[in-house]
Amino acid sequence: MAHLCLLKGLGDVVLFDVIDGLPQGKALDLLHSAPIENFDAQVSGTGKYEGIAGADVCIVTAGLARKPGMSRDDLVGTNAKIMSQVAEGIKTYAPDSFVIVITNPLDVMVTLMKRVTGFPKNRVVGQSGILDSSRYRSFIAQELNVSVASVAALVLGGHGDDMVPVRSTCQISGVPIEKLISDKRLDEIEARVRKAGGEIVSLLKSGSAFYSPASAAIRMVEAYFFDKKEILPCAAYLEGEYGVQGLYFGVPVIIGEGGVEKVVEIDLNSQEKKAFEVSLTRVKELLQSMDRLLAEKVRKVKSQK
Ligand code: LAC
Repeated sequence: MAHLCLLKGLGDVVLFDVIDGLPQGKALDLLHSAPIENFDAQVSGTGKYEGIAGADVCIVTAGLARKPGMSRDDLVGTNAKIMSQVAEGIKTYAPDSFVIVITNPLDVMVTLMKRVTGFPKNRVVGQSGILDSSRYRSFIAQELNVSVASVAALVLGGHGDDMVPVRSTCQISGVPIEKLISDKRLDEIEARVRKAGGEIVSLLKSGSAFYSPASAAIRMVEAYFFDKKEILPCAAYLEGEYGVQGLYFGVPVIIGEGGVEKVVEIDLNSQEKKAFEVSLTRVKELLQSMDRLLAEKVRKVKSQK
């Protein structure tokens, strides 16, 4: 992400990590590419929250990545603790920033980020649907041997194995995908989309996807910085839209200078609605288990006192 920011001239970059030496080393390496790539932005690394003071945008990837065989949801306990600390750091040192969360399990981590920072909903958003939709589009483009630019598609819902590839939005230059690919084959492609993050984890064996989530987050930054009013699928805080109340979930939103300026409601067919509900139930259950884990932690801290 830092590399993309610098190549695209989006501004100065501060890398933050608790592992001493890692952000500093990466920053130095990036800095040395500046004369070759011809950028004049500053890039530095830090392990102290003061280092992010005054940031316009904070992109949070902090937390453990899953290991082969794990689902994103298995990370909830560990990453909730990390997310709470990171959110406190952002609240203190970058109180006016636009915050993009990438850490998994995404929908509940971004919900926690909003709770801890207390930032308004337009300034806290989760990256998920751009990546998932991009996976859907790239598999379809491969299948038909056409440019990715000719493929439109949306993936909505939670960023988990129950995410919802919305087939009715998938078109090749305006032609509905169902006219070009059989239902059976589309079922297979959509199943692969749902598991694509896991497919990468099982290939890498250590760590998860890097390049595509990074590109997705930077696309959101560009929409914000350049007031593009772009419609992008993201995890947004819902207050009644799509019949959902008080949590983050993947839906199309407009991103512009006001951050998440609006949730866009689109029609889903009955099958898609059903899948949307299944995904929503999963995210709600996960939120409950995160709350239980955080409450246990508070109880433990109190009893130690
Ligand atoms: C993925 C991770 C980043 O989907 O959630 O690859």
